[in-house]
Order: sequence, then structure tokens, then C-alpha cells
Amino acid sequence: MLYRLYQPADFAALYTLEELCFQPPVRYSRAWMRQLIANPNSATWIAEKNAGENKTMAGFAIVEWTTMPKGTVAYIQTIEVHPESRRRGIAAELLRRTEDSARAAGARSIWLHVDVENAAAIQLYRSRGYAQRGREEHYYARHRPAFVYAKPLGPPVR
Ligand SMILES: CC(C)(COP(=O)(O)OP(=O)(O)OC[C@H]1O[C@@H](n2cnc3c(N)ncnc32)[C@H](O)[C@@H]1OP(=O)(O)O)[C@@H](O)C(=O)NCCC(=O)NCCS
Repeated sequence: MLYRLYQPADFAALYTLEELCFQPPVRYSRAWMRQLIANPNSATWIAEKNAGENKTMAGFAIVEWTTMPKGTVAYIQTIEVHPESRRRGIAAELLRRTEDSARAAGARSIWLHVDVENAAAIQLYRSRGYAQRGREEHYYARHRPAFVYAKPLGPPVR
């Protein structure tokens, strides 16, 4: 598996993954996805399988950061892995890299929203040191609730 930063030619494959991973009304629009990726205070990591003609996108993650009076805070917009490539550690590696990007941007903590019924993602975050910090009842479309998870960003773990 190759892990690298996003390039503009990746957009079509990235959006195909979004369509595989999320159904409307939760799915991000193309315009919103482009806006997230284009944010200069963000990083989009790609996991790529194979090489040359056979290369396919196995996953991606988007993290952004905001500088506030109390310091810089990072937020994970999404982590998505192709259904056929799950349970092989790809999300864990994408998460590690998003945290490294956030740290490099000066972030001291990182947070995210996750659907309260998304057991796989909740377990991913819990197993990587994130703790539940709250619950928002009407966060997602159709008033679906979300948990807020967060963790402090210490030095990189290898
Ligand atoms: C959640 C998701 C990103 C996990 O991707 P993945 O590459 O399969 O995850 P990994 O193989 O890196 O797993 C890392 C850890 O997450 C947890 N985990 C992942 N999938 C799990 C599942 N189906 N059930 C329970 N735990 C799971 C485990 O703790 C796992 O560690 P382990 O393998 O050592 O037990 C993937 O299921 C996905 O793309 N889901 C759809 C999109 C989505 O909901 N994204 C999250 C948005 S907040």
C-alpha cells in the first residue's frame, strides 16, 4: 500500500469512494468535497493499492486545522476505506498520518464527529486513544445524532 498526499488527478477516484461509503443525505457533495480538499489549512491523505495502470484508491482521509486564541486545533472531516480493503489497517495508518499533518501544523489536539451507530469507526477512534467528549443530537441530516471524540496530540508515535 502506498500512502501519499492528494493530487488533483485523484478527485474522481476519491469521490467514487465517497459514493461507496456514504449514501445521501449524509454523503458530501462534490462541491463541498472540493472545498474541503482545497482548504490551505488541510491535508488529504490517500491510500493507493497497486501501481501504474492497475492502481486503485483504497482509502482517504481529510484533516483540517484552525488557529484560535488558545492554539491550533485539528478536525478530522472524514476517513473512508473501500469496502473490499477494510480490516487491514488502512484507516489506522491514514489516521496516524492525519495526526502527523495536524501536529506539523501546530495542532495540540484533534477532534471529530462520528455517527453514534457507526461501530467500526467508533472502535477505530477509541482504539487509537480518542475519548468521547460529547454528543450532538441533530448533527447529521435527518437529525441523526453524533458523538464527539477527541484526543490530545502528543509527540508522534511510530
Ligand atoms: C471505519 C473505517 C474507516 C475503518 O477502516 P478500516 O481500514 O477497515 O480500519 P482498520 O483496518 O484500520 O482498523 C483499525 C481499527 O478500527 C477498528 N475497526 C475497524 N473496523 C471495525 C469493525 N468492522 N468492527 C469493529 N472494529 C473495527 C478496530 O479497532 C481496528 O483495529 P484492529 O484491526 O487492530 O482490531 C471503514 O469501516 C469505513 O470506511 N467505513 C465507512 C466510512 C466511515 O464510516 N468512515 C468514518 C467516518 S467518521
